[in-house]
Amino acid sequence: MAKSPGSVVVLFNALSEEGYDELKHVDPTTLGFEPEYDIAVSTVSEEYQAIVTALRGEGWKVRSVNLKDDLKVLERVVKRNRPDVVFNLVESFRDEPEFESAIPAFLDLYGVPYTGATPLSLSICRRKGLTKRILQSHGVPTPKFLSLWEPKVSLRHGLKYPLIVKPAREDASAGLDAGSVVADRPALLVRLEHMLHEFGGPVLVEEFIEGRELHVAMLGNDPPEMLPPLEYDFSELPEGEPAIISYAAKWNPLAEVFHRVITRCPAPMSRTLQRRLAKACLGAWHAVGCRDYARLDVRVSKKDEPYVLEINPTPDLTEGVSFMESAEEVGLTFPGTMARILEMAMERKTVWPPPPLDANAPKPVEMGPMGPLGSLTPPAPELD
Ligand SMILES: Nc1ncnc2c1ncn2[C@@H]1O[C@H](COP(=O)(O)OP(=O)(O)O)[C@@H](O)[C@H]1O
Ligand SMILES: [Mg+2]
Repeated sequence: MAKSPGSVVVLFNALSEEGYDELKHVDPTTLGFEPEYDIAVSTVSEEYQAIVTALRGEGWKVRSVNLKDDLKVLERVVKRNRPDVVFNLVESFRDEPEFESAIPAFLDLYGVPYTGATPLSLSICRRKGLTKRILQSHGVPTPKFLSLWEPKVSLRHGLKYPLIVKPAREDASAGLDAGSVVADRPALLVRLEHMLHEFGGPVLVEEFIEGRELHVAMLGNDPPEMLPPLEYDFSELPEGEPAIISYAAKWNPLAEVFHRVITRCPAPMSRTLQRRLAKACLGAWHAVGCRDYARLDVRVSKKDEPYVLEINPTPDLTEGVSFMESAEEVGLTFPGTMARILEMAMERKTVWPPPPLDANAPKPVEMGPMGPLGSLTPPAPELD
């Protein structure tokens, strides 16, 4: 048998999967509309398991590790039975998304190579306002915006209606629904107050780009390759629903909007748009220091000008979903793509040698038991 390319820990942090089971028992004829997609969506554990199976099929020695919010489990990964590389799929810790970046920081300290973005990139991209300021300073087009902590907006704010109001530090369409797009000042103030109340500050008030929505998957390093973009088509949405990927459209298979946003890959586009898109996305990738893979969410104005909304440095890799749909367009398979991402991480080992784990070296400070909420505190809230 051929030599294994290496040992890998597929690392994730999942505590409960409430709700998924109920979806398996829904009778689609009772919904009151014709569903386009399956009602029973796969659970996160099933998605991670698919990566494990795919990598085993490619010859890797794979262990899957669920942190279950326990730091000791993470310590065991790096101290005992240390893998050649970690496939990092951790998105939060102790229900705190800000701790997403602490996991790769920990792996960096122990010199264990891992897939995907650095702690710094992850932290930047969690803050949409900060990301947009960085994009602006690099000349990457992003919609004009305000970042607000209070339910007050200057009369001369300089933004053109319609505007979209969204939490600055959430992801996955949290807080986005039929009321997110506002056409005038009274509606803006009501929505802003509501978002501040629901999510806290800052809240982004952003020019709404009427036009197409493209999600751009990028893969590789030096330089990354822009894969064929995927388009979200809103033309089938019921009357009155704004052309956005709302929370329900993204997550609720029992809602009609979930079945009325249709994806198309590759998105048809002119050579000019292709060129502009590649320039904007490559600029954005470098501006925030992406690595290995990423997905950029982009709106395209009626004049075919792309605007980067946000950067997802470690996007969902589920087979058949956004990133992988684009990868499959260029002939990449799911196992092949997972293996390629791992290989890129493994290559870094040579440029970042792990510190010696020498038995005679002074013992590292033992990490004390963490309190119920741990002694780590999320970073100060002042930044965007
Ligand atoms: N400025 C904007 N113009 C048009 N649509 C927007 C704008 N900002 C957000 N949206 C819509 O809201 C969705 C979610 O916003 P996004 O900034 O990608 O945040 P996230 O995906 O992290 O929740 C987008 O996919 C898009 O449909
Ligand atoms: Mg998005």
